[in-house]
Amino acid sequence: MQIARLSIIGTLATLATASNSAFATDVEHYAIDDSSYTYCNPGYPSAQAYAPLPGATLELVQAVVRHGDRTPVNYIPNNDNEWRCDEVEQETYLHGVGESEKNTTGSFKQIIEIPKWNQKYGFENRLWSGSCEEGELTDHGKHQHSTLGAHLRSIYVDKLGYLSPELSSADEIYLRTTHIWRTKNSAESLLGALWPKRGITPTSSIPLHTFPSRIETMYGNSGACPRINALIDDITKTDGYQRFMKDQGPLMARLMDILSVSESHWKEGWGGYFDVLNSHQCHQFNLPCKKNGTQSTNLCVTAADLNQVNRNANYETAYKFRDSPLSQNLTRLYIGSFVGTLRDQMKSHIDGHSKNLKFALYSGHDSTVWPLLGVLGASDQQSLWPPYASNLLYELWKQQDGSHVVRVIYNGQVLQTRDSEHWCDLNACPIDQFFKRMEEFIPSDITSECAV
Ligand SMILES: *[C@@H]1O[C@H](CO)[C@@H](O)[C@H](O)[C@H]1NC(C)=O
Ligand SMILES: *[C@@H]1O[C@H](CO)[C@@H](O)[C@H](O)[C@H]1NC(C)=O
Ligand SMILES: *[C@@H]1O[C@H](CO)[C@@H](O)[C@H](O)[C@H]1NC(C)=O
Repeated sequence: MQIARLSIIGTLATLATASNSAFATDVEHYAIDDSSYTYCNPGYPSAQAYAPLPGATLELVQAVVRHGDRTPVNYIPNNDNEWRCDEVEQETYLHGVGESEKNTTGSFKQIIEIPKWNQKYGFENRLWSGSCEEGELTDHGKHQHSTLGAHLRSIYVDKLGYLSPELSSADEIYLRTTHIWRTKNSAESLLGALWPKRGITPTSSIPLHTFPSRIETMYGNSGACPRINALIDDITKTDGYQRFMKDQGPLMARLMDILSVSESHWKEGWGGYFDVLNSHQCHQFNLPCKKNGTQSTNLCVTAADLNQVNRNANYETAYKFRDSPLSQNLTRLYIGSFVGTLRDQMKSHIDGHSKNLKFALYSGHDSTVWPLLGVLGASDQQSLWPPYASNLLYELWKQQDGSHVVRVIYNGQVLQTRDSEHWCDLNACPIDQFFKRMEEFIPSDITSECAV
């Protein structure tokens, strides 16, 4: 799968740092200590472990999150598992035109219906059972974001008294999601627990900003930026990458056979296998099997296969977005525009604009979080594929002498930079140093940089 080539996000992942070290390893040696890593659940920030910066005042929190647990976005045939997405209600678009102002009761609830047709005249065999669209936030995913919201409340409301206990002004927050439903629903769940009580006046709704997909900047927009795919092609043409694909070719062929898939994107990379197999694993479903020809035995994906797929997927993205000489070029075009948005919002706050704004939530994908970790130069351990509901907090603090510092917390831990580039202490990084780093990734003229 070409990462930037698919327009559906979520399996897409990017890993990036400023490192330009040439590709000099192979997948056998791509061994990151991942003993504390789990893909299915994130680490949550906790009030017990959280300490404010001594002598400083918190001024702005920007939270960039990945959506929660979802159904696969890469469909495989013969998938007879049941996926549930309808036990927790979501509230987006409950009202018809004008109804919210009229206080109309009897609102609408969306039902995704997957009927049983008994194979007479429907498309029953073309989807799993349950109540989920492909790539939809599951009930478990909603709970994850609700848990995250509760943790944020215990820190920023209860412990720090920084955010209002009851949200009464939309000026206090800025909310943005991608156009994809699971990120909107994740934001709803998070905010529902961060502020269970809300009474916004004078208007009754809270803006949830979404850029149309053609101009999206929260992940690599290869439609708007054709240079992204050109760079990926250049990166994957290299000998090192080709050797990796060849070495892992037999595993890929076997998995394609067991999963009964043949579309070209399955041949291009490991993201699709990572998506399908991990989403099964996170739901305690058996790994996929198929009948072994006319034999009575099955051919099944094994736990060892899954380990190798995970390693390959991390390796692939590290190679494209971190370890190749063109990785920084790619990251800049992939996420640099969004980095600019985060930088500008902080800067505007420091300059005295938008003083009421306290909490900005950006609800995106692994392909949002991962490249940001790269921009920040995250350690190997914190650069593994972002788990569901991953949470990256940028805290802007003002010190007693009036200067600003930034603290970055990823999945409950202060972000550690890689050994090879300790560019700043991300517990309290001086703002000038922080912005200087961000600016290495912000395109000055994206239109010309994106041209092929
Ligand atoms: C709806 O409820 C609000 C708050 O209770 C009230 O101010 C408003 O007048 C109501 N609108 C209508 C059309 O009844
Ligand atoms: C699948 O069937 C072939 C014979 O058709 C046999 O050689 C092979 O061992 C079987 N594989 C498994 C995993 O049962
Ligand atoms: C990569 O980025 C560097 C630094 O901005 C630039 O000089 C170089 O031309 C870029 N290379 C490609 C192939 O885009």
